[in-house]
Amino acid sequence: MKLEEYLEKWVKGEAEEVIEYLAAARIAEEKGLIEVAQALRTIAFEEAFHGAHALVQAGEIKDLKEFIKKRIEAEKEAAKVRHEEASHHDEPWKTLFEYTARDEERHARILEGILKKLE
Ligand SMILES: [Fe+2]
Ligand SMILES: [Fe+2]
Repeated sequence: MKLEEYLEKWVKGEAEEVIEYLAAARIAEEKGLIEVAQALRTIAFEEAFHGAHALVQAGEIKDLKEFIKKRIEAEKEAAKVRHEEASHHDEPWKTLFEYTARDEERHARILEGILKKLE
């Protein structure tokens, strides 16, 4: 397999693992298994860093400011789509769509603050 092909597969695989470990951590937490939840979160972060290290080594993030600008737009778009989805669903999905949309908006605001500091 070519490096570029493997890189994409690898990074996606790590991202999926992060989400699955964090989902399992939530379940562990709901069951009161705090140490289990913490261990699963630690693994999730390590998986995230594997993908991050591979992206950095491949030179995927060339310019920090450009990356942040791109992410601001992506966060805003995600928020827009999530709010739109919320209007088409009943609970408990409605609340999940809305609260995650507000998080995406907050991420965009944080990134805008970072961008100002970098300029
Ligand atoms: Fe990994
Ligand atoms: Fe976000």
